[in-house]
Amino acid sequence: MGIEINKIAVLGSGAMGSGIAQVCAQAGFDVAMRDIEDRFLEKGFEMIRDSLQRFARKGKIEEGDVEKILGKIKRTTDLKEAVGNADVVIEAVPEIMDLKLKVFKEVDEIAPKDAILASNTSFMSITEMAKTTGREEKVVGMHFFNPAAIMKLVEVIKAEKTSEDVMKAITDLVEKVGKVPVRVEKDTPGFIVNRVSAPSAALAGAILDKKVAEPEEVDARLMELGQPMGVYILMDYVGLDIYVDGQEYCEKTLSPDYKPAKVIKDLVDKKELGMKAGKGIYDWSAGRPQVDPSKATDKVEPTDFIAVQINEAVKILEEGVADNTEDVNTAMKFGMSMPLGPFELVDMVDDLKGTLENLAQKYEKKIFEPVTPIKEGKLEEFLAKYR
Ligand code: CAA
Repeated sequence: MGIEINKIAVLGSGAMGSGIAQVCAQAGFDVAMRDIEDRFLEKGFEMIRDSLQRFARKGKIEEGDVEKILGKIKRTTDLKEAVGNADVVIEAVPEIMDLKLKVFKEVDEIAPKDAILASNTSFMSITEMAKTTGREEKVVGMHFFNPAAIMKLVEVIKAEKTSEDVMKAITDLVEKVGKVPVRVEKDTPGFIVNRVSAPSAALAGAILDKKVAEPEEVDARLMELGQPMGVYILMDYVGLDIYVDGQEYCEKTLSPDYKPAKVIKDLVDKKELGMKAGKGIYDWSAGRPQVDPSKATDKVEPTDFIAVQINEAVKILEEGVADNTEDVNTAMKFGMSMPLGPFELVDMVDDLKGTLENLAQKYEKKIFEPVTPIKEGKLEEFLAKYR
């Protein structure tokens, strides 16, 4: 018999924690949402109410369900109360490794011995978190995307010792809460989606630092091609602090080329963090910024972003992070609202090798240099092995 899951504890009530608590409660689970102060819990709870009311207005749930779902979420500042009888604990505290290690160690001591401990980290090593516990085989990554209430993807990440039973239980749980699970076979920085997106995020930053184009010019061009949000609006939407944390983690673990763009770092230092601060790359004080379509530029080729993503997607197949092209495509479509996945976009880039070589030279970043199968013109043969 598989592992039974009824009670879920979510640690953290920020954008992600509250979204995850909502999704689990909507699927009928009993949820305990824990944060360190009541005011954070209240803010998270109000975000959930707002989201549920939106669903009710759209007829996606019944009006009467709003209070019923909210009633399934117990708020607490007491860690023991939150995890004491949980079957699964999902950690969504700030992206500070020392904090996560401390939380995992503490939770390991007080959660039931069979409970699965999951982390919603965007980039960081699940294996490192697992090692602070006495139950490495029960520690797993469970990575949701923002806004969790809407985005369909959840990456299920296998750390060094995660058992197959736990991978299966979490994959099933993801399906039960109405999401699409994608297995990440190897615990590496950024997993699939954030790893494939990392060089395009670095490119977005470099475009600003090198003053190649203005954010609105690039976003207008990308939105013209059917993306729901341009790259800079999305950075603001997720939070520029999150962007900088992610790039810094990649800088430390993957390549110095990921050093966060100075323009963005300066905004973060000024606490202009994007949507949640009312100001970031854009002004959000009057709601979501309206991008002026007439600003669309040809100073940046949209296919440049695609090229660096295809290149990185090949690297994760080579490294065994994903074991097939379909999972990578699915992850990018459901995690980043892309109409097509990177391996479905190969034909859109006229000269993939040349494009990547130019970008590497222009922006002085080795991370953009073409990987061997692209350099040797053997991408199709390479990909055929993973189809
Ligand atoms: N709860 C409930 N409903 C919501 C909602 C929420 N939190 N957010 C948006 N909606 C609803 C809106 O009410 C609206 O409903 P209808 O279509 O029924 O009218 C619908 O969603 C669309 O919203 P908008 O009209 O405001 O705008 P949109 O069409 O641009 O959709 C979006 C919003 C779904 C967020 C879309 O812009 C999108 O997919 N953006 C990209 C998001 C993305 O890529 N996220 C990944 C970020 S990276 C990440 O999370 C990884 C990490 O580790 C940091």
